[in-house]
Amino acid sequence: MTAIPFVDLRAQHLGIGEAVARAVARVADSQQFILGDEVRALEETLASRFGVAAAVGVANGSDALYLALRVAGVGPGDEVITTALSFFATAGAIARVSATPVFVDIEPEGLGIDPDRVLAAVSSRTRAVVPVHLFGRCVRIEPLVSLSERHGFVLVEDAAQAIDATRGGRAAGSFGDFGCLSFHPTKNLGAWGDGGMVLCKSVTAAREVARLRAHGGADGVHEVVGINSRLDALQAAILRAKLPQLAAWSHRRRECAARYRELFFEAGLDGDVSVPRLDNDGVEVFHHFAIRCQKRDALRAHLTDAGIGVGVYYPTPLHLQPCFAALGGRVGDCPVAERAALELLSLPMFPELSHAQQTRVVAEIAVFYRGKRN
Ligand SMILES: Cc1ncc(COP(=O)(O)O)c(C=O)c1O
Repeated sequence: MTAIPFVDLRAQHLGIGEAVARAVARVADSQQFILGDEVRALEETLASRFGVAAAVGVANGSDALYLALRVAGVGPGDEVITTALSFFATAGAIARVSATPVFVDIEPEGLGIDPDRVLAAVSSRTRAVVPVHLFGRCVRIEPLVSLSERHGFVLVEDAAQAIDATRGGRAAGSFGDFGCLSFHPTKNLGAWGDGGMVLCKSVTAAREVARLRAHGGADGVHEVVGINSRLDALQAAILRAKLPQLAAWSHRRRECAARYRELFFEAGLDGDVSVPRLDNDGVEVFHHFAIRCQKRDALRAHLTDAGIGVGVYYPTPLHLQPCFAALGGRVGDCPVAERAALELLSLPMFPELSHAQQTRVVAEIAVFYRGKRN
């Protein structure tokens, strides 16, 4: 049987190849490869799409987080509260500015950082909070916005997986002082390589991000030491060519999620598998469709053997990562995240995923639990 990939970028390319080829040709003609008009145009488009003061293109989403924290003035001696369940880059950025990550537990349903636990973790050293809109669902952000106003800390949203997700009609990534996007090829809006963007609430902050992405200098004078984190013109041009499709792709992801839910319901797998519930306060973009399941690792092996691409995001919660051992994180500190790390399994999810493919994925899951097809 034909394999079903976890993400099918070739299928996307079939639909968008010509527009992307034109964008690539434009850059080839211009011979302007780094920053320049293409990057500026993308920055302006995204700033207006998100309703923020300015956006700054950078080399990847990890640097977007690092630069946001740098510009926020986070440094040694500061604490930054973040979720225990995310891609490593979220925590890595905090460590890279020499601050101390404080990991707190997540909410069992939406998998976002638990605002009550954030409140409990606030100390006199808290300088910033970094919520992550995991798998394309905006976290319960309102309490975090009020907390940040009350306590005067900076809110940096990790929206790497959530471009186009909204909550209360507002875009994930536009609530905080900074919103950070990733254009890694597998993201909902993916480049042909690495790319990222810092969405900024203030123009002054954006100027500072722009200074730090280019070694911290202006006119050959360096008041601060920055990094080299410029966005390529080629990536910006490709992203601009793809951007008009994003809303339709997000819509298709939601349709696929609804279809998975129906198929699981019909298969009657409750008890073995639970599927994500709809977010009633926001619009999700299903970067991943992650089920919670019993015997997760055996199911993963079964699906892999059947030629179905699946992934475990994330097997080790951040507070238990060996590189943070000195912070004293222990099993039991964040029980909800720890349980999720044992149970979550991300299924194939991409806009071009067909009904037939989804039917087969769920049928194989039924075979695993029941030993037969429905
Ligand atoms: C939640 C999260 N944060 C940060 C990043 C970092 O983005 P990048 O890979 O572009 O550095 C990613 C993606 O890889 C991510 O999924």
